[in-house]
Amino acid sequence: DERKRWEQARAAGERLLKAGKVGAILVAGGQGTRLGFDKPKGMFPIGALSHAPLFQILAHQLLGRSRRAAAPIPYFVMTSDATHHETVAFFREHKNFGLPAGDVFFFQQGNMPAVDAESGKLLVGSDQTLTTSPDGHGAMLTALAKSGLLAEMKRRGIEYLHYHQVDNPTAIVCDPVFLGFHAELGCDMSVKVVTKRSAAERMGVAVDVDGVTQIIEYSDLPLDIAQKTDSAGALLLWAGSTAIHVFTRAFLDRLVDHGDALPFHVAHKKVPYCDADGKAVNPQRENAYKFERFIFDALPLATRALVLETDRAREFNPVKNASGDDSPETARAALATLFHGWLRAAGAQIDDATPVEISPLFALDGEEVRAKVKPGTKFSEPTILN
Ligand code: UTP
Repeated sequence: DERKRWEQARAAGERLLKAGKVGAILVAGGQGTRLGFDKPKGMFPIGALSHAPLFQILAHQLLGRSRRAAAPIPYFVMTSDATHHETVAFFREHKNFGLPAGDVFFFQQGNMPAVDAESGKLLVGSDQTLTTSPDGHGAMLTALAKSGLLAEMKRRGIEYLHYHQVDNPTAIVCDPVFLGFHAELGCDMSVKVVTKRSAAERMGVAVDVDGVTQIIEYSDLPLDIAQKTDSAGALLLWAGSTAIHVFTRAFLDRLVDHGDALPFHVAHKKVPYCDADGKAVNPQRENAYKFERFIFDALPLATRALVLETDRAREFNPVKNASGDDSPETARAALATLFHGWLRAAGAQIDDATPVEISPLFALDGEEVRAKVKPGTKFSEPTILN
């Protein structure tokens, strides 16, 4: 029965894609400070053999999905002062990864100044201008409206937007099942969630407060509440947000029209600055407050919201840190597990030690692999299928 509902949702999502009613939003304006890569995070080489950058893996998924649907899927890419020029140049250099130029749109978010945590005064950088940083992924709403792209979406007949972040190569871009459930249930906004690894994991959780669905950021959730368990010992607040969403375009329009600006969250961070004597200071401890809007604060404004649980290993493997959890190493391992699994399910022979990469242009999922790889095919050399 559950299976049937999923298949119905998939069919509904595929109809929307075929009808050209779907667009995709990629947010790529973050500074990626934890990863410590000196370029926009989307340029980070994640393919184990091909060294394909994150941008390519996501854009090729979109291209594969668009070819399958035989309909265009416009890509709306948010950048910031920190990432704009390099991102636009990178897409140009790679010919938009095969996406038609008329279907790729860049729009830029704004900045917010940082203030000194003790004095509350604005910080000045070594170039004697205000120290600023991107104003958070929630800035997407105003940035889309200002750039005229909300109007462009409407003009093109786009009704639904699949939203994903640049750091997760296993996000299923424009997943028909997710789009289908969202549309069939008449939702304004949806979120995919996975089980949190531990109470302390730094991940927002989806909760219902007095019947209103919302996401509480980890920094706003006291640890003793995050640690609460049910009688079976499972976390009560288990539903970690993957930051994969679907939006109904009309909902985005409504938020902008109503001037429902999302609130600012305050983050305590290390911010380099220039002291009163004009000396550059690189602080060793958190010295400043930064202000960011989060897109998930739109969730409680939705008339109807869907929270869909998904398989963490399959869909949530973000590149946040340089090493350890949520790093390039864990994301590559997740991709390897996925590709090996698809090949074995198709009846191919491959052992774990043989590296293999499957381009989204070869196959978007296990079914497509099964259609293209003959049972019994043996992979004994490192292989890229594309
Ligand atoms: P994160 O909150 O993980 O931030 O962004 P980050 O910039 O990538 O990394 P740190 O925290 O500095 O290490 C999640 C997603 O939201 C985007 C990022 O590009 C990423 O896709 N984002 C974040 C923006 O587009 N704009 C922002 O102002 C912040």
